[in-house]
Amino acid sequence: MERTLIIFKPDAMEQALVGRILARFEAAHLRIVAMKMIRLDDVLLREHYAHLAERPFFGAIVAYMTSRPVVIAVLEGEGAIAVVREMTGATDPSLAEKGTIRRDFGKDKTHNVIHSSDSQEGARAEIKRFFKADELF
Ligand code: PPS
Repeated sequence: MERTLIIFKPDAMEQALVGRILARFEAAHLRIVAMKMIRLDDVLLREHYAHLAERPFFGAIVAYMTSRPVVIAVLEGEGAIAVVREMTGATDPSLAEKGTIRRDFGKDKTHNVIHSSDSQEGARAEIKRFFKADELF
């Protein structure tokens, strides 16, 4: 069993896509083990996107992700990290495979619906960053 973290980005919140996307994950045998709605702040995001600090879009992504409250969840299942990444699709929705979440609902590399952990190490760090131990079930 593996755990991964997903963030419903502001465009998912604005288009009221949380339920539809969660239904896809649940249908793929992923279980919700933690979930909350929060407004992310600069400090958390600068840590979360630290690997992108030198990229020209860094300021824009931090501003975008703080623009409205988001829903964050931890999903658990066999191979959860890869399953969720595959169902999410490529960063650029126009390049994402047909039937992926980003292809179906995304607009561009910034407004691409959800974030998901990209490795076991990343997932562990991200889950710890956003959830306390007693918020995980
Ligand atoms: S890249 O281009 O390979 O670095 O992209 P990637 O590592 O997949 O994801 C980078 C995260 O930054 C968000 N973002 C952008 N990426 C590329 N170009 C632009 N202009 C851009 N704006 C924002 C992108 O959505 C990825 O966010 P997460 O939350 O990790 O999916």
